[in-house]
Amino acid sequence: MSEERPEKRVSFTIRKVAEDELDQVIEINEHSLPEHYWYGFYKYILDEWGDVFLVAEVNNKIVGYIMNRIEETSDKVLMGLENELENQTKPHEGGPLDRLRRIFDVERATVGHVVSIAVLEGYRRMGIGSALLREAIGLMLNHYDVNSIYLEVRVSNNPAIRLYEKFGFVKARIIRGYYRDGEDAYVMVKRIKPITSGGQA
Ligand code: ACO
Ligand code: ZN
Repeated sequence: MSEERPEKRVSFTIRKVAEDELDQVIEINEHSLPEHYWYGFYKYILDEWGDVFLVAEVNNKIVGYIMNRIEETSDKVLMGLENELENQTKPHEGGPLDRLRRIFDVERATVGHVVSIAVLEGYRRMGIGSALLREAIGLMLNHYDVNSIYLEVRVSNNPAIRLYEKFGFVKARIIRGYYRDGEDAYVMVKRIKPITSGGQA
């Protein structure tokens, strides 16, 4: 079993995006993903959660980004307390998460949402996506005290799914026809810490 693995390595830095760099982020998005957004959406994410909107830079060139939002939710799948895909194959009652949920009866939690991550094609498989995700996870935890982080990903997007699994994200739901071309999405969720009612640790 052999796999194409470029040997090249570059040195890069991860930092917060600046407003006048949004056009470069948009360009990377348009080259990398079928899901595009208008400028105002990037600006909104920047204005609200600019401390967790990051770019990767190589020789003064932006080659990757990750943008995130912070949400309040009562959706137990997004909180990492339920897994709809595991429920299909496992008995429903009695798991440790079920017990925890019954004990604490969690209503709402603060969660991180990875809206979009991409690295320019010529710079992939060098650890840049991992570095963006690692930094964003740490910042979302430190700045917003998130209980979990979730994202949607095309069911066919194996590179991204493998990246997320490396960081402890688990497939927890399928959304049928989520994408405009009809493809399904996995919702993948990473539990950060136990959730207790009232928000006390
Ligand atoms: N095939 C298999 N596994 C892969 C691949 C690939 N082509 N690319 C990355 N991975 C997995 C591997 O496990 C890899 O670890 P390894 O290299 O030690 O084996 C791990 O991901 C980390 O790889 P990185 O080099 O850190 O990731 P990279 O910088 O290449 O970025 C990304 C990954 C962002 C998914 C990139 O491939 C990309 O931009 N793809 C197009 C855009 C995209 O699909 N974005 C995600 C959409 S979903 C969302 O935004 C929420
Ligand atoms: Zn999303």
